[in-house]
Amino acid sequence: MAHRSRTESCVWRDSNCVCIFKILLFYVIFYGCLAGIFVGTIQALLLTLSKDKPTYQDRVAPPGLSHTPRSDKSEISFTRSDQSSYSKYVQSMNEFLEMYNDTKQNGDPYEDCGKFPGTYKDRSMEENKKVCKFLRSWLNNCSGTDPDYGFMEGNPCVIIKLNRIVNFRPKAPSNNSLLEELQAKITPNEIPIYCKPKRAEDIGQIEEIKYYGIGQGFPLQYYPYYGKQLHPNYLQPLMAVQFVNVTVGKEIRIECKAFGDNIDYSEKDRYQGRFDIKLTVS
Ligand SMILES: *[C@@H]1O[C@H](CO)[C@@H](O)[C@H](O)[C@H]1NC(C)=O
Ligand SMILES: *[C@@H]1O[C@H](CO)[C@@H](O)[C@H](O)[C@H]1NC(C)=O
Ligand SMILES: *[C@@H]1O[C@H](CO)[C@@H](O)[C@H](O)[C@H]1NC(C)=O
Ligand SMILES: *[C@@H]1O[C@H](CO)[C@@H](O)[C@H](O)[C@H]1NC(C)=O
Repeated sequence: MAHRSRTESCVWRDSNCVCIFKILLFYVIFYGCLAGIFVGTIQALLLTLSKDKPTYQDRVAPPGLSHTPRSDKSEISFTRSDQSSYSKYVQSMNEFLEMYNDTKQNGDPYEDCGKFPGTYKDRSMEENKKVCKFLRSWLNNCSGTDPDYGFMEGNPCVIIKLNRIVNFRPKAPSNNSLLEELQAKITPNEIPIYCKPKRAEDIGQIEEIKYYGIGQGFPLQYYPYYGKQLHPNYLQPLMAVQFVNVTVGKEIRIECKAFGDNIDYSEKDRYQGRFDIKLTVS
């Protein structure tokens, strides 16, 4: 038949084996090329990335402020006389503070950076980047010397940290008018933390809010952080806050905020630069 198409002639004229082999060969080469392009593209992209610092950092949000114990719906609710009602909080604080144990910070790479807020420590030239010590004992009555972290007495502690961002240098607040309550306490080289009752009805429900750590916030000598690869044992500075003599049987809302020129707050992200807790002691 003169009008046979090429495929038909393939099927009928050549042996079936050769034909199937050709089709297979075509697909092997075809998919091989696809896979090659795919792998090649990924490799090329990986080559441009540095393992030391994130490449695409321009859209990183300002840092979050987080706290321990952290719980569902930010509620801290317990009964003073019932240890089991607060043991989960105590346990999470014990676990969190373990890496800050004084005894773990002997020798390399830990370095004494003082207990007074100072300026940034640029470590870009340090081959093995040192880490500023942050001793658990600096958290004083919230360091675990009281194994109940004040929960048993109705004076609960909360530990606050600013989330890590590689190469980020938090800027101290330049407009102190935002912080009238703190004017007398803060020094130029820190990111102050301030907690206060959130609603009008919450005012006066806590006798005192005590702060433990360095100064009243996060000292700048702990920044910048160079990332997991280059700065493996890095410790974030902490601030412990103790709510002393909290009114019993009432839900109290507290807002804690970090202040700095490049610390922002967001309507959408409740942990950006600040957080709220609902505290109920009974
Ligand atoms: C860390 O310190 C706490 C209290 O100071 C202690 O109970 C705990 O066993 C220590 N952990 C380690 C791993 O040294
Ligand atoms: C820490 O707790 C002890 C015992 O409860 C108390 O006497 C002391 O005043 C507290 N320290 C601070 C700085 O509040
Ligand atoms: C500081 O903040 C206050 C109140 O928000 C504002 O009125 C003032 O202009 C600010 N000052 C500077 C130097 O930004
Ligand atoms: C706690 O507050 C209550 C009521 O405000 C007060 O009567 C009590 O003396 C305070 N206790 C301490 C230890 O400060």
